[in-house]
Amino acid sequence: MENFVFENLTKAYFGKKCVSQYLPEILQGYDDNVLLAYGGGSIKRNGIYEEVTGILKAAGKNVTEFSGIMPNPTYAKVMEGAKLARENKIDLILAVGGGSVMDCCKAVSLAAVYDGDIWEDFWMKAGTVTVKPVPLGIIMTVTGTGSEMNGGAVITHELLKIKTGRDYPALNAQFALLDPLYTYSVPKRQMVSGSFDSLSHMMEIYFSLPNEDNVSDEINEALMRSVIRNLRKAIGNPEDYTARSNLVWASTMAENRILKLGKKTDFECHLMEHQVGAYTDCNHGCGLAVLHPPYYRHIYKDGLPKFVRFATEVWGIDLSGKTEEEVALAGVEALADFIKEIGLPTTLWELGVTDKKQAEEIADTCFLSPGSYRKLTREDIRAIFAAAF
Ligand code: NZQ
Ligand code: ZN
Repeated sequence: MENFVFENLTKAYFGKKCVSQYLPEILQGYDDNVLLAYGGGSIKRNGIYEEVTGILKAAGKNVTEFSGIMPNPTYAKVMEGAKLARENKIDLILAVGGGSVMDCCKAVSLAAVYDGDIWEDFWMKAGTVTVKPVPLGIIMTVTGTGSEMNGGAVITHELLKIKTGRDYPALNAQFALLDPLYTYSVPKRQMVSGSFDSLSHMMEIYFSLPNEDNVSDEINEALMRSVIRNLRKAIGNPEDYTARSNLVWASTMAENRILKLGKKTDFECHLMEHQVGAYTDCNHGCGLAVLHPPYYRHIYKDGLPKFVRFATEVWGIDLSGKTEEEVALAGVEALADFIKEIGLPTTLWELGVTDKKQAEEIADTCFLSPGSYRKLTREDIRAIFAAAF
């Protein structure tokens, strides 16, 4: 294992009815001005808005609403939230939603107290957060990103066509309420793409050095098998509580830093997907589904032992009569088949990249991960995009 220091500042409350059970008491620990942040309105249709505003009202809070946070939140939306937070002297930001609402609110929590340009000083380079962000609490309504228990915030600068993120521990939410029942109303396509995002996080961590025996890789294999099994169950019955609750916690576990301990981590697929998102505004999990198989077909020989292990431990591929390369490739193809089985897209075309020149243009804007099994070049990224087209 590599050296590490581990801390996670978020207190997680998990399970059925956890919002009505814990939020009233949690709110007593904060002053009165609350910024209630949410997305495009799903919480008004499924009853979550009514429940949360009822609890805020009973607690005597002054509520300012910050709504309309879009999937793939923009820098402009962050600035809008920061202005509201400053003008209303907000004491607590309550983010009710998925990764987009959570990420936007983390950026708002910093932008509201920072005098400089947070895009330049934090998102474009790894700065050090020395100011105290506005306290943040999260009520998760859709699972996948794991943003509820880390300091990661992925923001799109729509004018610069850059989508990028940083994980600042200071931006971790102080509390996160995770009720799997809240995810029942998530449309099937989003449930599937969100869970694929979780699986992607696990793979991005697994396929990186060190390869020798380590606790993180073994926990990771169990989590990957759990997501695959429970996603199949949840597709069969979206109200299977066991399946939905496992999907929620597996997703949190993938991104609460525990799985990354002692690992270099890759995240090249995320770096590529983020740029596809910056150009097309595609769904994050869908973009990852398109890029993972061509990326792994491109690099599996560079990380052969781990790809063999993935094939046998995660997909149950039989070793007999096969070379190591055949086993490793069979694992990648099992992943590609799973993506088709769960109905996610398999080409850049389906994400809105409609000509090869544009695919090349996007490829040329992607950051290169130092954690990949292969020392990637610009040509590698172009080849992966060509194969994904
Ligand atoms: O906006 P509303 O109307 O609420 O609808 C949302 C949205 O359309 C809907 N939804 C959420 N909860 C629902 C629901 N619909 C019905 N019932 C509910 N209970 O779901 C749609 C997608 O929401 P979004 O928050 O965009 O999805 P997700 O959680 O997948 O977040 C994606 C964003 O997170 C970033 C992605 O890049 C993307 O910008 N990521 C953040 C990470 C992090 N902070 O650690 C890591 C990830 O790798 C990822 O990059
Ligand atoms: Zn992701």
